[in-house]
Amino acid sequence: MSLFVKKSLSSLLAQAGDSEKGLKRTLTAGNLVALGIGAIIGAGLFVRTALAAGQHAGPAVTISFIIAAIGCAFAGLCYAEFASIIPIAGSAYTYAYATMGELVAWIIGWALILEYALGAATVSISWSEYLNRLLGGRIPYEWCHSPFESALDANNVLHTGIINAPALLILLILSLLLIKGTQESATVNTIIVIVKVSIVLIFIAIGWGYINPANHTPYIIPADAPPAVQPDGSLYSYADFFRHGWGGVLTGAGIVFFAFIGFDAVSTAAQEAKNPKKDMPLGILGSLVICTILYILFSYVLTGVAPYTDFLKAGKEASVAYAIDTYMPGYEWLATLVTVAILAGFSSVILVMLMGQSRVFYTMASDGLLPKIFSALHPKFRTPYKSNMVLFVFVGLFAAFVPGTVAGDLTSIGTLFAFVLVCAGVMILRKKDPNLHRPFKTPLVPLVPILGIIVCTAMIVSLPNDTLLSAFIWMIVGLLVYFGYSQRHSKLRNP
Ligand code: ALA
Repeated sequence: MSLFVKKSLSSLLAQAGDSEKGLKRTLTAGNLVALGIGAIIGAGLFVRTALAAGQHAGPAVTISFIIAAIGCAFAGLCYAEFASIIPIAGSAYTYAYATMGELVAWIIGWALILEYALGAATVSISWSEYLNRLLGGRIPYEWCHSPFESALDANNVLHTGIINAPALLILLILSLLLIKGTQESATVNTIIVIVKVSIVLIFIAIGWGYINPANHTPYIIPADAPPAVQPDGSLYSYADFFRHGWGGVLTGAGIVFFAFIGFDAVSTAAQEAKNPKKDMPLGILGSLVICTILYILFSYVLTGVAPYTDFLKAGKEASVAYAIDTYMPGYEWLATLVTVAILAGFSSVILVMLMGQSRVFYTMASDGLLPKIFSALHPKFRTPYKSNMVLFVFVGLFAAFVPGTVAGDLTSIGTLFAFVLVCAGVMILRKKDPNLHRPFKTPLVPLVPILGIIVCTAMIVSLPNDTLLSAFIWMIVGLLVYFGYSQRHSKLRNP
């Protein structure tokens, strides 16, 4: 049988209708937008904005956000078409199975592991940064950093990380919450979303008065910017093509792209939506638009309050709280409030990512491409509890022993790659099945998908070479697993 064997749309739709046996349908359009924003605003905004500004884009990180948003909007429009046609758990993986065949579906599913599992790891690492800030830096450096990070303390003694324990802790708590059930998780999530959006708005409103125009000049990092000293005492040079000018702005886009990841996670919940055809496009595009506006304003204020070079030094971790404490005298309470809100906000992001990942695993295992353990439902809670437990171990290893920047860049690459394939999928399905009923249609096909492919590929290319290499190795491992296990166990091939 061919590698490109496809699932028929009718069997997929029958599977979606057959919800009695599977996951519960409890989520409304409002829940979905909340789920989207819950997944979207997180470490990308509160940690990676400063990283992108400090290392690559300077104040022009606002432009990086615009580039990333354009890529997401194109891909989001393609996602929405698929989500409305195939309202079933599994997201891009499922869409590919119906349009491009099993091998491509597998590749996407494998890339989505980078997105959701490593995404959850990245955010838990950021959670650890802000927790340490809240505790006044009392957690010893060794116990809240990976073995690949080091920094000088006030006495010029170099400390190197051992394990990121707080990151592990938050992952454990949230994995347990997820095992208990989606509905409860969605309610907690809605409350957190309100807190998170409020804090972003308050920071923008108050911080606006503290913007120092000098920090915004020049707006893009010049080629001759002097090197900056990093926390471990080494020098950071801006000479590289992707560390200043427009090259830097593009890499900045690849980095802050992380801040948009998650709106597609909404699509993984399609099987749990009450009215997926109408609600999925609303959930996906609605959350994307709201977040883009907030991000541009937020990053404009952050780089106006603190000079971008600070984000390489003292302001490298928990940057937002740092900027408030250092440059907005009298607002220490705001720094604390922001930190607490960020901790809650990151928790909701991790929750949605873990949920998205276990749902993708659930679908892949139901199809026989992964072992059954990933699709076993809890007899009482009806959640994929075994999958959640395996996932905790996998994500935990990354959270404990890998630096946040590396995990974050890998997340971006995996997601961007899945986006490219989804854009291609829309064009393929339009050709293959032009008369299919599409409750939501991507506008201007093939222009929109082609632009989506171009913008997302440009962001992939701008990310560091060693991260690209790691992602490549991950994909090779995925192919080995496919040919070694999945192909032989696929239900479609062995009915
Ligand atoms: N978009 C999510 C975040 O920024 C993943 O944390």
